[in-house]
Amino acid sequence: MNKKVLFVVGSLREKSFNKTVAEYISKKLEEKGIGTSFLEYSKLPLINQDIEFPVPSEVDKVRNEVKNVDALWIVTPEYNGSVPGSLKNFLDWISRPVVKGNFGAPEFVKDKLVAVSGAAGKSEASLVIGEITGLLTRMGLNLLEEKVGLSLPAEAFQTGVFNLSNEQKAKLDNEVKLFIEKL
Ligand SMILES: Cc1cc2nc3c(=O)[nH]c(=O)nc-3n(C[C@H](O)[C@H](O)[C@H](O)COP(=O)(O)O)c2cc1C
Repeated sequence: MNKKVLFVVGSLREKSFNKTVAEYISKKLEEKGIGTSFLEYSKLPLINQDIEFPVPSEVDKVRNEVKNVDALWIVTPEYNGSVPGSLKNFLDWISRPVVKGNFGAPEFVKDKLVAVSGAAGKSEASLVIGEITGLLTRMGLNLLEEKVGLSLPAEAFQTGVFNLSNEQKAKLDNEVKLFIEKL
């Protein structure tokens, strides 16, 4: 059966540059016969232990999406040198047990393959990649070692469109290759 990958874009912005990056990667995976989808999580409530059992339907929805795929691919901007709050909120939700009394992330999250890429300013997303590496490792996910951070050119901010350079595409292509080897 075909493998399935769920993209989680760390920016909720409609014309997100990180979404452009995710769409590039998704196309590359689709060309290899891998199914891809994008997580819609803008309506996820804020993590709150008072509403965990039972969880709101939006939480169930995103949990099922994670459950139904072989791997995740996170593509994220850097907010104040760290993980955007909306993305952290999603990760906090899936890190929580599904059954009351259990501890830690559910089985469908543990050991799931996850890749990380990001586009930001001059940092090349190195700060968010560093932070999310610690986070995903503590959550018990199987994090792809290769992580690609890209620097957004001034032109992207002027035009609102991010055209990936050939060099940036080559870096992502290599990440795709390594990811498929582990999938
Ligand atoms: C709250 C906030 C904090 C930001 N902090 C950083 C930062 O620390 N480093 C950086 O390179 N860009 C930062 N930016 C700028 C983003 O890189 C820029 O808005 C980028 O377009 C966001 O990615 P997106 O196009 O995928 O939405 C920040 C943007 C926001 C909204």
